[in-house]
Amino acid sequence: MTKTPPNPPVTNEKSPHELKLQLLDKTLKKSQYQQDALIEVLHTAQETFGHLDEDILDYVSIQLKLPPSWVYGVATFYNFFSLEPQGDHVCVVCMGTACYVKGAGDIVARIEQEFDMKAGTTTTDNRLTLISARCLGNCSLAPMLTLDGSVLGKQTPDSTVAAVKEKISSSSVVGEETS
Ligand code: FES
Repeated sequence: MTKTPPNPPVTNEKSPHELKLQLLDKTLKKSQYQQDALIEVLHTAQETFGHLDEDILDYVSIQLKLPPSWVYGVATFYNFFSLEPQGDHVCVVCMGTACYVKGAGDIVARIEQEFDMKAGTTTTDNRLTLISARCLGNCSLAPMLTLDGSVLGKQTPDSTVAAVKEKISSSSVVGEETS
C-alpha cells in the first residue's frame, strides 16, 4: 500500500505587515475607493504603519486610482503626515491661529526645552516625535494637540509636558514588564 505524504500544515497566520494592510484595505473599502477619501485613508495608513513610506503611498495611489504625484503632494503638504519613521510617541501641536494666540508656541517651546529637541524631529532615544501642524480642526479646544492620536484640549506647557512624560513612563513600565 502506498502512503500519501501528509499535507503541509495550513496556517492562516498573517504577518504583521499583512495585518496592517488588511486594516488599510478596510478603510479603503469603507470609503468605497472614493478619491476624496484620500486624507482619511492616509490617516489610517499613518496610524497603522507609523509613517507613510513609498510603498504605502504607491499602494494608496493605485487603490484610489490617483496619480502618485497627487498622493505624494497631499502627504507632504500636511505636517501631521510623516514620510519618516517616527518615535515611540508622537505629539502633534496645533499651531493654527486659534491655538497659536492661546499659547501653542509656548507649548512647543517647552517641549523642545524639556526633551532637548526641535519641532519636526525625534529625540535621540527615539521616544518622542514632536510635530507642529496647521489647524487640526478642533479650534474650540485651543490650544490643542494630539498625543499618540488622542486629542488633548485646552493645554498648557505644564499639562502637556506632564501628559507626554506619563505616556513615556507608562510605555517604559509595560516594556520592562514584558521584557
Ligand atoms: S487652530 Fe488649532 S485646532 Fe484650529
